[in-house]
Amino acid sequence: MVREWDPRTASSAEIASLLDTLNAVLTADLPQDPPWRESSLREYLSEVMPGERRISWVAQEEPAADGNPGRILGQVQVLLLGGIGVLEVLVHPSVRRTGLGRTLVKLAARRIRDEGFGSIGVEVVGDTPAVAFYESLGFAREYVETRSVLDLGAVDWPALAEMATGIGAGYHLEFCPGGPPDDVIEAYARAKAEVRDVDDGELRPSSYDPERLRDSLDTLHRRGMKPYIVLAIHEQSGEVAGLTEVVVPAQHPTRADQYDTIVVQDHRGYGIDRAIKARMLLELRSAEPELAEVQTWNAQANEAMLKVNAELGYRPDRDWCEYGVDVAELVHRLDAHP
Ligand SMILES: CC(C)(COP(=O)(O)OP(=O)(O)OC[C@H]1O[C@@H](n2cnc3c(N)ncnc32)[C@H](O)[C@@H]1OP(=O)(O)O)[C@@H](O)C(=O)NCCC(=O)NCCS
Repeated sequence: MVREWDPRTASSAEIASLLDTLNAVLTADLPQDPPWRESSLREYLSEVMPGERRISWVAQEEPAADGNPGRILGQVQVLLLGGIGVLEVLVHPSVRRTGLGRTLVKLAARRIRDEGFGSIGVEVVGDTPAVAFYESLGFAREYVETRSVLDLGAVDWPALAEMATGIGAGYHLEFCPGGPPDDVIEAYARAKAEVRDVDDGELRPSSYDPERLRDSLDTLHRRGMKPYIVLAIHEQSGEVAGLTEVVVPAQHPTRADQYDTIVVQDHRGYGIDRAIKARMLLELRSAEPELAEVQTWNAQANEAMLKVNAELGYRPDRDWCEYGVDVAELVHRLDAHP
């Protein structure tokens, strides 16, 4: 049975069942990734930025004879934002290649079309069945990043402590657990906006005006994801010269996600990138004792950042791709399929 599903009102048993399927998918496709926990999973699935909407469907077994609800073996969700529908599909490994993935995409694609959106985007992990799946549906690869993982157990901490202080005169670093303090929000947003103009075309959504930045931090908190920031402040002007963001999600708190790292154009060449990232790792070591790994995504063309990441101990893990398709074409293709 496939039906629309709202995580906000779903039973705890359904949330737990979806978690089981998610972890079975991870074991099959990304066996090195830590399993997810139930902590704040409902909020993770429900909460969105203002102006965005998430719609979800599940494939669920029929209820058992004793009345217990059947297991959730598949899920599709679509996030509607700014003209595009972003898709996520999960099918339990035990029921793959039976057409369930295609059925779920069909439901989502029709709704995306009916809501008036023109295109669909999806994140596809390299070396997993999702690549052949989306290509079979006519999705085209638009962008590739490399995911790298840092094992904190293998870090040379004394070397890192040296990197954290190896910054040009006239700058100091600030550690901000929870996000940038309110008095630097404007400067923080300016730093993000400038790099958005000049940098390397990364697709990760960046919050570049103060209001949007506040909303984005608030959404992170509501989804159970704890942000940490290290800032490099240019002392003479008080400007934010550089920033790095790491998020520790309640759903997998042993592996954190590195978000943006930005060094503003005028402040490049002073060791800020290396110093802010090194300081972040030193701080996380005491702030998050459970943390074992940090993962990061970089454009393959971003050689400077890849070099710094390699010095810190990050090891390339696998390709992480963005695929896209025109909604009308996708619906047409799926309707034509028997
Ligand atoms: C990608 C995924 C959704 C496919 O689900 P599915 O139910 O097995 O897909 P379908 O049975 O509808 O397959 C449709 C078509 O896709 C293609 N396809 C799917 N899996 C494939 C595979 N392993 N190899 C080659 N082609 C494949 C085939 O053309 C297939 O049609 P066919 O079976 O008639 O040949 C599923 O593998 C999945 O959940 N992967 C995890 C996705 C994810 O988001 N992971 C994130 C964390 S890793």
